[in-house]
Amino acid sequence: MLFIPGKNWMLSLAELAAYFQARNVKFEIAVYSKAFFVITVDEPTVIDVAGLGGTIKVGEITAKLLTQTMKKAFLEDDKQAQAEIKEALSSGNLTRHMFEKSSAGKAVFGVSVYWADSAFRPVARRMQRFVGSAVKKELAAEGKRANFMGFAKDRMYPQLSHVEVLKKSMVENRAEVLFCVDKEQTFVAVTVAVHDPFEFQKRDVGKPSQRKIFAIPPRLARIMVNLALCGEGKVFLDPFCGVGTILQEALLARAKVVGVDVNRWCVEAARRNLEWLADEYSLENAEYRILHGDVRKLSEKVGREQVDCAATEPDLGPALRQVPTTSYATRLVERLEPLYHVLLEEAYKVLRWDGRLVFVSPYVKTRSGQPVTMRVEEKALAVGFKRVYPFQKENFAGDPVGLEELTAMASLVDVEERHLIGREIHVFQK
Ligand SMILES: C[S@@+](CC[C@H](N)C(=O)[O-])C[C@H]1O[C@@H](n2cnc3c(N)ncnc32)[C@H](O)[C@@H]1O
Repeated sequence: MLFIPGKNWMLSLAELAAYFQARNVKFEIAVYSKAFFVITVDEPTVIDVAGLGGTIKVGEITAKLLTQTMKKAFLEDDKQAQAEIKEALSSGNLTRHMFEKSSAGKAVFGVSVYWADSAFRPVARRMQRFVGSAVKKELAAEGKRANFMGFAKDRMYPQLSHVEVLKKSMVENRAEVLFCVDKEQTFVAVTVAVHDPFEFQKRDVGKPSQRKIFAIPPRLARIMVNLALCGEGKVFLDPFCGVGTILQEALLARAKVVGVDVNRWCVEAARRNLEWLADEYSLENAEYRILHGDVRKLSEKVGREQVDCAATEPDLGPALRQVPTTSYATRLVERLEPLYHVLLEEAYKVLRWDGRLVFVSPYVKTRSGQPVTMRVEEKALAVGFKRVYPFQKENFAGDPVGLEELTAMASLVDVEERHLIGREIHVFQK
């Protein structure tokens, strides 16, 4: 299976690994780069893309070619290599099921090109046109008429957005071709699922009670829920639940959710939001409890060893107007530390054996260019937790360049350019 990640590819890849792990699906990451991943699974698995926060498109691979052939065809203009590519595209696997469910007629198909090696960037548009014309010919030979979706000249990348794919019914029609050039191999795939941004947006701005400043984006909330290995029937906790953004995602994952917040308005707001969600998504028998309380008394409130998994975003500190100095940022982070220490102590008590805690700590940009982060590991280990590294070597095929660095990463970082405080995401296990 082929996956096109969102902006933060490491978060996307870590989420997918957790997604398979939670479902006991044996998988291997065969190819990864910031552009796309190829993951092989032992058994046929339907990916519920709506349940993933970090995946934009899912593709079914129909052909593989050597990237050496791409180099010859598009960088050296070798005619024989071009003929070889045409031949692979016309095997029928790609087009046979296109427009099966609807008559082609005015329908459109599209081609999106992705590449791991920037050497292909200058020729990506040419590759797109080349693949498009080969597909069009093949469709014609099958008696199907469809137009190749054109691109505005000023467009940066020859890639359809997920919104375009949705609007042009390209998933139902299997009408988007993904042409993905990795270092060694090139994968030809058909899009079988895309991320629906309108659903996530609805949960973000459509819920009855909102609070903009502290809000975590629903997509990141879903990634955290997945990293916690949350799933159907599990008891899920957010001890700093705010208006319930993370709880919403856990409820959609069919967990029994428990939220706690010290602010009474938040408790009411989270209740209203979950009630709305259960209704909006027709979640029958949705189980949720929102409790008013302080994290310092979490185990008294929730009970010991009652929770299977938890994900939360405690206080990240005050909104900053300008990039702080390192010493100011350090003080800011140190002031928050006691709250995080309490979280670790109390979360350990309420979690069941093997239960996971996923949480965000502040990642503060500074004038020196070196971010200030919170040291949480020492405390977590002292409490009894083990750190879960986002990437495990045994989940990867072979030993590609860069894998050692990836598997040595202890946490994941999510920082937006326009924000001064980013998020560091940790996963610990009891
Ligand atoms: C960053 S917000 C969480 C935002 C939430 N993820 C959302 O999207 O709405 C942190 C929340 O922690 C709550 N909080 C702060 N200190 C707390 C404490 N000691 N115990 C429990 N909740 C606390 C605040 O009221 C606030 O709602």
